[in-house]
Amino acid sequence: MSTSSITLTLVKIAALGLMCSIVSYFLYFEQSSPGSCPESPSPPPVWEDHEEKPIVLLWFWPLGVKFDFKICFTHFQVNSCVLTDDRSLYPRAEGIIFFHKEIDWHLRNMPQTPRPAFQKWIWFHVESPTNTLKIPGLENLFNLTLSYRRDADITVRNELIIKTAEMKKDFVLPKKDKLVCWIVSNNNPSTGTGLRETYYRELNKHIKIHVFGTAFGGSHLKYEDYYSTIGSCKFYLSFENSVHRDYITEKVNGPLVAGTVPVVLGPPRDNYEQFLPADSFIHINDFSDAKLLAEFLLYLDKNDEVYSRYFRWREFYQATPHLLSMNNEFIHPICLACKHMSRDSNYHVVHNLYQWYFS
Ligand SMILES: *[C@@H]1O[C@H](CO)[C@@H](O)[C@H](O)[C@H]1NC(C)=O
Repeated sequence: MSTSSITLTLVKIAALGLMCSIVSYFLYFEQSSPGSCPESPSPPPVWEDHEEKPIVLLWFWPLGVKFDFKICFTHFQVNSCVLTDDRSLYPRAEGIIFFHKEIDWHLRNMPQTPRPAFQKWIWFHVESPTNTLKIPGLENLFNLTLSYRRDADITVRNELIIKTAEMKKDFVLPKKDKLVCWIVSNNNPSTGTGLRETYYRELNKHIKIHVFGTAFGGSHLKYEDYYSTIGSCKFYLSFENSVHRDYITEKVNGPLVAGTVPVVLGPPRDNYEQFLPADSFIHINDFSDAKLLAEFLLYLDKNDEVYSRYFRWREFYQATPHLLSMNNEFIHPICLACKHMSRDSNYHVVHNLYQWYFS
């Protein structure tokens, strides 16, 4: 070995040693565990493991209820992102889902580190404006909205699907032994339920209503009995807790799935008709008062041919059962956010969240 190559080797060794200490230094302060040189630290596994799929981080479990993310694939055929609740993936996550109701009034439970430039924050909220707390400081924080609203970036709704040839089976109306039914557990007036309660009390004077759920002393209904119970009634009261544009919930989907005519209380008829065939439901505003509505329902009860017209839409469309129970209602929106994040990579900012939501 020549002197110059010895010198070069020494320089290399010195350089390696220096690099090693720099690396150890960073590892020490980053992870507070000293890395052992010369073994190079193993790279974080996430990139390779998950190919090119974006990481979507669920910051809070909605109402604290956990579920297995695999259901997005098994139930909704969504598999195009990596869903996680592991907050250590924050720096790499392309989307972060924030469930509005879990956000602290002072934002103390929101990320405290700077947001990577590529990252999108998703505002996840499915309550109506009446039941929404205006937490200060959220106005210009989010990039995407995830809501029941049609003009949200990611819209979550129970939609009718157009029937394909294979689906076209004759629909058999379930056996009916009740006229009007209603499942209701919330009658807290602060949630906006006053209007529907007044209407119910008036309607009840003119027609018998079978009430299930705890609000008006009805019997408790198990989830497994939900569709069959609704199916056993000719009409079902799909009364929303509060009246807002596009706020048309699973309360309408239930009877459409079960084979029952929904009697709706909510936004105006034309708003419903943006989502549902005009002859698939009865709107309370079709009648000037509850007494006339009751008379019409009693008339339909005696006229099978006219009643059956409310099921004609089934020749072309099909209603999809929604997942029942509190812990399940948040799964679909989260899966939709995953799907959206794997498709739409455009820059996006929501300017003044509340102005959009409350106007
Ligand atoms: C997301 O929104 C924030 C806040 O308005 C904005 O600063 C950021 O550039 C946006 N990011 C993307 C990826 O659209």
